[in-house]
Amino acid sequence: MENIVLCGFMGSGKSTIGKMLSNTLDMPLIDTDEYIEKKLNMSIPQIFAEKGENFFRQTELEVCRELSALSGYIISTGGGTLLKSENVSAVKQGGTVFFLNVSEEAVLYRLRNDTSRPLLQREDKKDAVHKLMTERLPLYKRAADFIIDAEQTPKKVCEQITELFCGGTNGR
Ligand code: S3P
Repeated sequence: MENIVLCGFMGSGKSTIGKMLSNTLDMPLIDTDEYIEKKLNMSIPQIFAEKGENFFRQTELEVCRELSALSGYIISTGGGTLLKSENVSAVKQGGTVFFLNVSEEAVLYRLRNDTSRPLLQREDKKDAVHKLMTERLPLYKRAADFIIDAEQTPKKVCEQITELFCGGTNGR
């Protein structure tokens, strides 16, 4: 069975939806950020601060390659993971990619108290989100097999993904 791969901006709900799908479909979940944190025994903010973003991005590539061999998993990626075409090719070897699409306003609201995303720890958070979203939106769309409106309730989002996945040739 194929993997379900979730991609999208920080705050698009990848972790929440990943957990829900994992329970509903009884498929194991891998969150690439958690996987990297365990692999390096460091938190994401620590990796950015001590090793730098380039090192983190290199690790993401290695992880995508490692995970490409799996089947039957829910893989929740980081917001920057599927921007590189090598990473997309790796995860697509065994998976269908669902892009969780949310607006800048939703991201800003959902992450208003967040301190765990190094890229958004700045005074001009609104500008940072706007800049990143503008750069990334075409890349998420390029990576996606399916684009999902992730401002719906998590239940609705899960139902749509399940229907698309199981209704196709990938499900059980
Ligand atoms: C990042 C998103 C984060 C994490 C890191 C970088 C990004 O994951 O991988 O802080 O570049 O968008 P989430 O999307 O799970 O917050």
